[in-house]
This record gives sequence, C-alpha cells and structure tokens, in this order.
Amino acid sequence: MKSFDDELHSMVLSEDGSYTAYSKEYEEHYHSTRDGALNESLVKHVIPALGIKSGQDEVHILDICFGLGFNTLATLYYVKQNNINSRIHIYSPELDASLIRSLKNFTYPKEFDEFRHIILELAETGYYDDGLWHVEVFIGDAREYIKKFENSFDIVYQDAFSPRTNPILWTKEYFSDIAHLIKKDAILTTYSVALPTRLALYENGFHVYTYHTKGARKSTIASLTELEGFEKVDIKHKISCNPHAEPLRD
Ligand SMILES: C[S@@+](CC[C@H](N)C(=O)[O-])C[C@H]1O[C@@H](n2cnc3c(N)ncnc32)[C@H](O)[C@@H]1O
Repeated sequence: MKSFDDELHSMVLSEDGSYTAYSKEYEEHYHSTRDGALNESLVKHVIPALGIKSGQDEVHILDICFGLGFNTLATLYYVKQNNINSRIHIYSPELDASLIRSLKNFTYPKEFDEFRHIILELAETGYYDDGLWHVEVFIGDAREYIKKFENSFDIVYQDAFSPRTNPILWTKEYFSDIAHLIKKDAILTTYSVALPTRLALYENGFHVYTYHTKGARKSTIASLTELEGFEKVDIKHKISCNPHAEPLRD
C-alpha cells in the first residue's frame, strides 16, 4: 500500500493502538496520543453526544474539522454497534484537500474495516449517502462554511487544532456563529477545557459542563439548554478566581 506520510503529515501510533497523524504545518497531533485516537473520538465526542441524541429519528452532526475523519467514522461505528436506527447526517469542513485525498493510504483501526468503502468514497468525492447515512466533506474554510446553516444541528464535534495553534476556530465570534447554526437543545463536545474556550461558550449563552469518564482526560460539553446529569462548571466562580481571563477574539 502507498504510504500516507508526505511533507506535511506523518502517521503516529497512539496509546490505544490506533494510529493518528502529526501535522508538520501546525506542529500538532490530530489526536491526543496519550488518550488514543479512536478512544478519544469515542469517549470525548461520540459517546456523550449520541448518548443524549440517539433516540431521535434524524441526527444532524457538524464535525469541526474532518481531519482523518475519526469522529465521523467513530459515529458510524457507535451507531452500528448499538443498533441505532436514526438517520445520520454529518457535515464536515476541512481546509486540507491533499489530506482528504491521502486518507485511502491511512491505516485505520480494525473497528473501521467495515467502513472502508465510505473512506474511499469520501477521499475521492467528499460525499457518501446510502439512504440511512449521509456524509459531506466540504473542502474549504470552516468559518465560511458554517455561515450557510441556521438552527440545523443536534451535535457539534468541536475538534479543531488547539486554541494556541488554530485560534480562529475558538473565538467568541466563532462560537456566536455556532450558537446560531445549532438547535436550542444541541450538544457541543470538545477536548478543550481551557478557560478562554469555556468563556467564549458561556458569553454566547452556553451552559458549560466538565465531562470525565474512565480512560481519557477531562473534556467539555456545552449546550444552550441546561443538561441533567453532568457536572456544571461554575463560570462566575472561575471568573472571580481569574479576573483577567478572556475569551479569544477574532
Ligand atoms: C485536530 S485536526 C481534526 C481531527 C479530526 N476530528 C479527526 O478525527 O481526525 C484539525 C483539522 O482542522 C483542519 N483545519 C484547520 N483550519 C481549518 C479551517 N479554517 N477550516 C477547515 N479546516 C481547518 C486541519 O487541516 C486539520 O485537518
């Protein structure tokens, strides 16, 4: 098989035995190598989000950003494993066209073997639809892409490179656009627990929760509607302890 590695990306083994990639451009891994690529995707994004949303007939997901596609593929894996009958619609922007084309050479975990045909179609056309699952990868800037939606999504996987590396996808203005494009009871998941990220969410009307489960570090869940059964972050208290903290701005 042709190698995935090129001048911008290289494949790296993560601690759960699944491969992730390292971006030489952003100087960052696509996943936490410690939490593991597949594990991180499942426990920080898919399980908490679909745990709440899988009872619906239709689930609309915004996957920011596609990268190697783990969040999209782990969603399909979880849906199949748990016999979830919802029609799944996934929309995912990705700036790096050459990365998407090279995904056919990436070594995915065996859990994704049954989705090989989906990976190949997405790598070639950016589109997959089998009547039950619909996936669209948009090649371009996420900030532009999200402007075309309104009140559309049940779930947002906020999985950009870190706020330090890719601040434009973590600002107060960015989360204002996100608040506009989601349904009122949507769930946003992110690995970031940074106070500026949480402030950017809070200042756009999100309730912010810490999510912690065995096998991964803490992450964040947010919703415009109050959620039961999650550990709410007392943002006012955090601000009083960190009076100079501010959200990132455009
Ligand atoms: C951390 S990786 C995403 C990991 C992905 N969720 C996965 O499971 O593999 C971040 C991705 O964001 C993409 N990206 C960076 N800036 C972007 C932008 N403005 N619009 C769309 N994609 C962007 C990068 O090319 C990279 O593939």
